[in-house]
Amino acid sequence: MSTTTRFDIYAPIHKALRLFMTDTLHGLGRLDLDDTQDREAGLAQLEALLDAANFHLQHENDHIHPAIEARHSGASGRIAAEHREHLDAIAMLRAQAAALRAQPEAATAHRLYRQLAAFIAENFEHMDVEETRHNQALWATYSDAELQAIEGRILASIGPQEMSQWLRWMLPAFNPKQRAQLIAGLPPEARAPVLALARSQLDDAAWAKLCGALDRAPEASLVAA
Ligand SMILES: [Fe+2]
Repeated sequence: MSTTTRFDIYAPIHKALRLFMTDTLHGLGRLDLDDTQDREAGLAQLEALLDAANFHLQHENDHIHPAIEARHSGASGRIAAEHREHLDAIAMLRAQAAALRAQPEAATAHRLYRQLAAFIAENFEHMDVEETRHNQALWATYSDAELQAIEGRILASIGPQEMSQWLRWMLPAFNPKQRAQLIAGLPPEARAPVLALARSQLDDAAWAKLCGALDRAPEASLVAA
């Protein structure tokens, strides 16, 4: 059975989340506790990640789980229970981040690094279950058009600040084809700021590929995109 041709509601956002998680963990591991600016930047990224993880599981709870339950009763139970555990873990990580900010000590920093690593490890397993078992349940009972409509409702519920945060991680996490599809699918008035964001994050080779796929000159003005 081929699974590659079906619409995958989880894969793109999970790619962004995996990069956001690993980049934040890496940042925490190399944090210079004696450098206030470096410490604040690392903690701010951790707090942004925890906000994103919270938003993300809420979107799944609000839009995807009801769809699964409507046609496959009980199929989202395990993942819903894990979401409740994730909320507890997010609250614990926020408290640990606040403790490190108040008292920047090496032992506190390492404990936070370890706890974030464990949270990420659990989330990687969790996202894999969503991308396999939850997708199977969705694909068995929904058409791609219906799944795209669910995604549309999720996108409509996301405010501009949350959206720019997701784009900031989706662009570098995606492969060239996915980046081009993302930008081509945006309404024309939303393209210029996303292209500017892409330019700031991609190296020259990746930027040239994106421009080639979008049929625009790499040196063209981003304002007139
Ligand atoms: Fe989830």
